[in-house]
Amino acid sequence: MAFTQTTSPQSGLVLAKTADMNREKPPITDLAPRILENLTHCVLMFDSDLRLDYINPAGEMLLSVSAKRLVGQTADALLPTGSHLLAAIKKGLNTGHPFTEHEVGITLSGRREVTVDCTITPLASHPEDSGLLVEIQQLDRQLRISREAQQITQQQTIRTLVRGLAHEIKNPLGGLRGAAQLLERELPSEALKEYTHIIIGEADRLRNLVNRMLGPNTLPRTEAINIHQVLEHVRQLVNVENHGGITFVTDYDPSIPEIQADRDQLIQAVLNVVRNAVQAIGSPPTDIGKITLRTRARRQFTIGNLRHKLVCETEIIDNGPGIPEHMLKSIFYPMVTGRAEGTGLGLSIAQSLINQHGGLIQCDSRPGHTRFSLMLPLGNTHPRSTTAPSGGNTHEPH
Ligand SMILES: Nc1ncnc2c1ncn2[C@@H]1O[C@H](COP(=O)(O)OP(=O)(O)OP(=O)(O)O)[C@@H](O)[C@H]1O
Ligand SMILES: [Mg+2]
Repeated sequence: MAFTQTTSPQSGLVLAKTADMNREKPPITDLAPRILENLTHCVLMFDSDLRLDYINPAGEMLLSVSAKRLVGQTADALLPTGSHLLAAIKKGLNTGHPFTEHEVGITLSGRREVTVDCTITPLASHPEDSGLLVEIQQLDRQLRISREAQQITQQQTIRTLVRGLAHEIKNPLGGLRGAAQLLERELPSEALKEYTHIIIGEADRLRNLVNRMLGPNTLPRTEAINIHQVLEHVRQLVNVENHGGITFVTDYDPSIPEIQADRDQLIQAVLNVVRNAVQAIGSPPTDIGKITLRTRARRQFTIGNLRHKLVCETEIIDNGPGIPEHMLKSIFYPMVTGRAEGTGLGLSIAQSLINQHGGLIQCDSRPGHTRFSLMLPLGNTHPRSTTAPSGGNTHEPH
């Protein structure tokens, strides 16, 4: 009977738990590197001469340099002269007291400004074995993550609203068009048919607009694809459209693994962003108009509220006039346009397509430098399904 008891669902759970607890835990020396590698905070360890002994992957990402090239360098070489962080590190070594500095601004390579909280802990067990532990928490990153999560929700809400509206317009539109066609057949004179032609023509124009407002209506058909093939396809397409009048600069990281994605949807998303860049540069494009396509792999990157081990970043940078400050926050919303002939749907559709792949498009802009950055998770993340109502035209290139 004892045997029967142990196989009951509840006692089975207890046994499983006990087995789990009895499982041998890896020694702390094995766990420590794993913990450090996966921390979102940067950890740097200096020796008593302020030479770097160790930096974790979050630190490498912050400084945008690999540990191999950083280890052995002095704090003076790593951090800008006169920077607050460098002064804090020296103060830690001199006083031997641990302390935290809040909201310290640091300028990194490429004149990138970040705000951090920084904790300095002198490690002085023996005078000859002293060192310094520096922990850096990037505040802008936390702010960015919560702001992005909020933006994703807002954009999804607005897209749902616009799709609902588009759906409501689409239904009676078919009826109107059909009635105009029937009427046309009954009309006695050719001159009167001009009016029904106008009704049919305008109904068709509205239907195309409404289809685009509805956005993608199919689930992504995922396959393993090389992001560079997508970029090259778009580059060729845009080159043909502009008779080679645009200068493209490509800076690809060939080591980026293949992405599980819908090829057509990615092409459409990239095309929408690149076409905007072409339009911003001017028509016809000038000799100085330049678009840069760059790919990089990013480690430990958070999109929305999901942290990914590896993310593919595709940057599309143009040297056009830039996006006006007042528009920058709203360009991903549908119907927001700065062009007389624009419908303001291109970026909303691109964002929606990239969101379906678990990714995100970000943008920053100043005159002469507008950067759209498409973040796509790599590895075992799956695209989310779409709830788009039927009727849209997914693959119609925008
Ligand atoms: N690279 C860029 N440089 C300057 N402004 C840009 C750039 N990309 C987008 N914009 C601005 O963002 C607006 C919204 O772009 P979006 O692609 O959503 O719509 P659109 O291009 O106006 O119309 P549509 O793409 O539907 O034909 C553009 O009208 C333009 O004002
Ligand atoms: Mg556009």
